[in-house]
Amino acid sequence: MNRKPLLIDTDPGIDDAIALAIILHSKEYDVRLITSTAGNVGIDKTTKNILKLLKFWNLDIPVAKGCARPLVRPEIDASGVHGDSGMDGYDFEEPDERLLLDVPAAVAIHQKIQESPDKVTMMAIGPLTNIALWLRLYPEDKEKVEEFVIMGGSMGRGNSGVLAEYNCHYDPEAAKILFDSGLPVVMMGLDVGLQALVYPEDSAKIKTFGRTGEMIYGLLQRYRGKGLKQGLKMYDACASAYLLKPELFGYVNAYVDVETSGAPPPRQRSRSAKRAPPSPFPGRMRWTPF
Ligand code: BDR
Ligand code: CA
Repeated sequence: MNRKPLLIDTDPGIDDAIALAIILHSKEYDVRLITSTAGNVGIDKTTKNILKLLKFWNLDIPVAKGCARPLVRPEIDASGVHGDSGMDGYDFEEPDERLLLDVPAAVAIHQKIQESPDKVTMMAIGPLTNIALWLRLYPEDKEKVEEFVIMGGSMGRGNSGVLAEYNCHYDPEAAKILFDSGLPVVMMGLDVGLQALVYPEDSAKIKTFGRTGEMIYGLLQRYRGKGLKQGLKMYDACASAYLLKPELFGYVNAYVDVETSGAPPPRQRSRSAKRAPPSPFPGRMRWTPF
């Protein structure tokens, strides 16, 4: 089987580590580059976490370090969910930096795309800062991208504010650049990960899957503040699942915009909308049908 070239941008992150465990061991994809982005924790930690995972699996895949903060906003962090290291729960060996390229992520992405005779698939499971810079620097590369799958955004509620999903909330300007780019983006949003729950009995089964299973079992015990009993939401792994088994999901084609000013989306008043009933507290309550 001809393995498809795949480039990954990630901020490990416990669910990132699980997404990598799945896709790096697949027969279908040949991962040519992994780029780090700040997101769940700072850039030095996410870069180190990628190197730790590659050492754990004894894989020689080039790694390029990416942006340390969002394009225009101050950074936030999700160490409350993933632990101080970003991958708490397993005692990884210290990695060396042999696999680390001496060019930044956006440049490495460009180089890997241009050196590939075939179109590449891309998967981004963290904030989209590197991707936005790459698109601004090398828009000509878009022609060589077969498909772009992200974990980010939400069709409903948010997990980093009422409406915002963490990766898009971290760098909304970058997310806007990707969605406006015209690339064929497949969005595995928060609402998908909310349905992909891992319970204690699932983690016990995972533990039996050799040393990778034991490692992931350890991470799962710490993920989301030890919230295993309620079911752990597996966001980034859905992007890997999509690449391997797209038939697991349903899809709609949609125009997606990203709100960057912090304003709620304007509400559309339908013709049949009823008039608001008189308020018992004039001036204090609003009722807006939609
Ligand atoms: C996303 O935010 C991060 O905490 C996870 O790794 C995932 O990429 C979910 O909103
Ligand atoms: Ca992530």
